[in-house]
Amino acid sequence: MKTRRRKVTISLGLFGCVLVTLIAILGPRAENTTDPVKEAYQGFQEGKCKSCHPAIWREWENSMHAKAWVDEIYQEIANQIEDRETKCDGCHAPQPILITGIGEMPKLRNGQREAGVSCLVCHLDAEGAMHGPQASAETYFHANVTNLIYTAPTTLCSTCHGQPTVPEHDQVSSFLNSKFAEEHQSCATCHMPVVKRLQSTASYESIKGRKHTWRGSRSVAQLRRAATLRLEITPEKTSVKLQSKTGHILPGGTLRTIILEVKLLSPEGIERQTEQISISDKARNRLLPSEERTYIFDTLPSATGDTLTVRLLYQLTPKTPKSEWIVMAEKNHVVP
Ligand code: HEC
Ligand code: HEC
Ligand code: HEC
Ligand code: HEC
Ligand code: HEC
Repeated sequence: MKTRRRKVTISLGLFGCVLVTLIAILGPRAENTTDPVKEAYQGFQEGKCKSCHPAIWREWENSMHAKAWVDEIYQEIANQIEDRETKCDGCHAPQPILITGIGEMPKLRNGQREAGVSCLVCHLDAEGAMHGPQASAETYFHANVTNLIYTAPTTLCSTCHGQPTVPEHDQVSSFLNSKFAEEHQSCATCHMPVVKRLQSTASYESIKGRKHTWRGSRSVAQLRRAATLRLEITPEKTSVKLQSKTGHILPGGTLRTIILEVKLLSPEGIERQTEQISISDKARNRLLPSEERTYIFDTLPSATGDTLTVRLLYQLTPKTPKSEWIVMAEKNHVVP
């Protein structure tokens, strides 16, 4: 009864009336059956979501959400966990979270695991309706339900990125204590940029939506926005100021390492000296949002014409070879 009443209040206009009637007819049945859910799974498998939402599908398909199960890095590490089905898989191939409960620990799905965090995981409810920010057109295939969680700063995301019992995958707590939260930004501000496009092939006009790309640590552009470097050089010492520009703890994931590298090169390019500092969960020195840190290096034995190169490098996993580290920021200084 409770869920029915909620639906009536949040669904819109004419469609709301149709839904009320439908629920009145199908209600008792819908509550005891998973038919509409099964149909949604089948539609997903048969490419129906893709055919009506081609633009959003292409964005999602290339995202880490689509790869959350097939991801080799995930599979390799999860295979070492004895009880992976209960401890790990539930978030990497989850049941729809509107069904298991927003904020509740997600549960492992039986089928379609290779689809990872699929459209259905974030949008499908127990009656087969699609919840979203607000639809501008209707479709016979599914009901549309306007739900405020899609535009809330962290509610949807924190179901997986902020579970209190899984601190190793938590970007939400540090975000909530940051200036970004105070400025009414959201996870979507940085990870789902606003785009105007046809939301479906049945829509009449392009309206504002958000890109389903979730670019994170695999995006060089995103990594270049993550932090800034400043150099202050006096005859006595070299100070390197590192400031985080990321909306949460940096690096965001516990597998990642950021390396601050300071190198002194002779005019011929010969390395005189190199120092490296690692920033990671393992080293217990990740940066909080907006945090600025100063690293001081005693004057390196330099001569006129030498170049001091300071770089911030990103290592995806402990196995990533140096040749694949990404340069996040770089500053050079030629000794006068
Ligand atoms: C509460 C949901 C949740 C649970 C439970 C969970 N994960 Fe994750 N996992 C995530 C999220 C969200 C990310 C992405 C953000 C991050 O890396 O923190 C992620 C990312 C990862 C990554 C990084 C993949 C890459 O491509 O770099 C690995 C590895 C991983 N998880 C392994 C595990 C293992 C092993 C377990 C079980 C011990 C587990 N996860 C349990 C939600 C979860
Ligand atoms: C027959 C075409 C069609 C199919 C098939 C279809 N959709 Fe839709 N969908 C639409 C239309 C039309 C809208 C409204 C678009 C608009 O507002 O411009 C919509 C809206 C949505 C919304 C937004 C709801 C809201 O209230 O904001 C979501 C989420 C959604 N669809 C997901 C899916 C998923 C997932 C599938 C596959 C299971 C799917 N759709 C299959 C046509 C379709
Ligand atoms: C149902 C669980 C779930 C929900 C809800 C969820 N995510 Fe994720 N997310 C994951 C998992 C699992 C991964 C890790 C995939 C992997 O690397 O294997 C991930 C990865 C990511 C990544 C990392 C991409 C990269 O390059 O490393 C970003 C960014 C992200 N999610 C943002 C969001 C945002 C923003 C929201 C809210 C709109 C959200 N997620 C909602 C489970 C979820
Ligand atoms: C990790 C959760 C997540 C996944 C997975 C996901 N969406 Fe969304 N979707 C959202 C959020 C959050 C919004 C609200 C964005 C906004 O504020 O406009 C949204 C909005 C939409 C909208 C409304 C138009 C727009 O761009 O805002 C449609 C339609 C939609 N999603 C369809 C899909 C389809 C189809 C898939 C699979 C191909 C999918 N979504 C996968 C979280 C998700
Ligand atoms: C001000 C911009 C900003 C905001 C707001 C923001 N992020 Fe990020 N996020 C970034 C940047 C930059 C990176 C790349 C650096 C990194 O990996 O930490 C990133 C990386 C990530 C990653 C990948 C981490 C990894 O190790 O692979 C995940 C997951 C993620 N963000 C989730 C979220 C979630 C969930 C929220 C909301 C609580 C959020 N982000 C809010 C900028 C932001």
